[in-house]
Amino acid sequence: MGQKIQAVKGMNDLLPVEQRDFKLTSAFWQAFEETVARCTKRYAYQQIRTPILEQTGLFVRSIGEETDVVGKEMYTFADSNDKLSLSLRPEGTASCLRAVVEHNLLYNGPQKLWYMGPMFRRERPQKGRYRQFHQFGAEALGFEGPDIDAEIIAMCADLWRELGILEHLTLEINSLGNKEERAAHRAALVEYLTGFVDQLDEDSRRRLHTNPLRVLDTKNPALQQMCDAAPRLIDYLGEESRAHYAGFKAFLDGLGIVYTENPRLVRGLDYYNLTVFEWTTDKLGAQATVCGGGRYNGLIEELGGKPAPAIGFALGIERLLLLVQEYGCLKADDKPDIYAMQQGEGAALQLMKYAGLLRAAGWNVAQHAGSQSLKAQMKKADASGARFALILAQDELATGRVTLKDMAKGQQATVSADELLTTLQQWKNQ
Ligand code: HAM
Repeated sequence: MGQKIQAVKGMNDLLPVEQRDFKLTSAFWQAFEETVARCTKRYAYQQIRTPILEQTGLFVRSIGEETDVVGKEMYTFADSNDKLSLSLRPEGTASCLRAVVEHNLLYNGPQKLWYMGPMFRRERPQKGRYRQFHQFGAEALGFEGPDIDAEIIAMCADLWRELGILEHLTLEINSLGNKEERAAHRAALVEYLTGFVDQLDEDSRRRLHTNPLRVLDTKNPALQQMCDAAPRLIDYLGEESRAHYAGFKAFLDGLGIVYTENPRLVRGLDYYNLTVFEWTTDKLGAQATVCGGGRYNGLIEELGGKPAPAIGFALGIERLLLLVQEYGCLKADDKPDIYAMQQGEGAALQLMKYAGLLRAAGWNVAQHAGSQSLKAQMKKADASGARFALILAQDELATGRVTLKDMAKGQQATVSADELLTTLQQWKNQ
């Protein structure tokens, strides 16, 4: 026997059954995908599917070289033919915009798009954090807002409500202003933090000049006071940025969407400006952020398109579903309606014909394969979770009839082939 080969660390198989350290099942996941498809349709967003591999330069230019995602976490390799550097996508926004610019989709006017699929980041794996994970994301391109900023949030809230987890999520919002406002704030922050340079740890000292905002993320309790008194970006916003933020909040208030303002919320990707937000939970331990997003008005131009404003979000499907599984109300159902069994010469073929008839009428039918005893087949029928059993043995075959059993109610009847569909429908409606 050859040696077993295991999956790559931090990458999960999604199976019909729960695993010891990964409890999500394929049926549960599929039920979520169906919910997403309904939700995006309600808001008139259209789906986009892009390749999983892109040129590395796309992510460097959009997400930013200094970010952890691009600097440390991408799976990057040279394409052997032309030495082009390729990366597995670490997120969906950059790929979505690359496709929109490449195909000139904004020529047709603003676009509301959504996507779902695997993303790759070489992070340290733990519960809720994986190296291959999945996102559902939406991007509204070509809209100034702030009405669309609120619509994006409302769509998330709608999804949380449908999944039964709204009460377990907190919405945090902030405004990052524009480039100039951020530059002025950054200069003030660097000057302020330089005054404390002796107290900063090595990591923070390095970040002081690469990403001073991240210094404020320090978990060091001794530095909390320094962080609290640091210059706040919100105080550096100009009139236009303030008006956008105020407009956004007014829409949220009007829609009755509860939020917390977090002036420290900055997000881990470089492309954001103005509105940013995160939905967090206290139910998942360290991996608290279920969904994040914001405006990125400069990115389309940065990627070679005509300047256009844009906003979007993405949620981590594994994280979200862990929350839904424990606290929400998503129903997963991959059980067949009918378990069909047979015994004796010629029965298998006839049963296949009946099963075909039932499937064509919309019933989900599991047909027993092979020739076990009817008792053993009945056991399988029980284990399958099907409500009905259909039995075709020699007696039935000889008389052109089938036996039906309602395993939930314990009733049984032998009916002609013509009565099969009507009997099942009657029993189902009882
Ligand atoms: P992000 O905050 O990097 O944003 O990722 C969005 C969500 O993906 C996170 O809130 C988290 O739930 C999930 N996630 C990220 N990394 C992992 C991981 N290693 N394992 C499991 N889940 C993870 C973006 O990706 C932006 N593209 C969002 C966006 C869209 N902004 C505008 N449009």
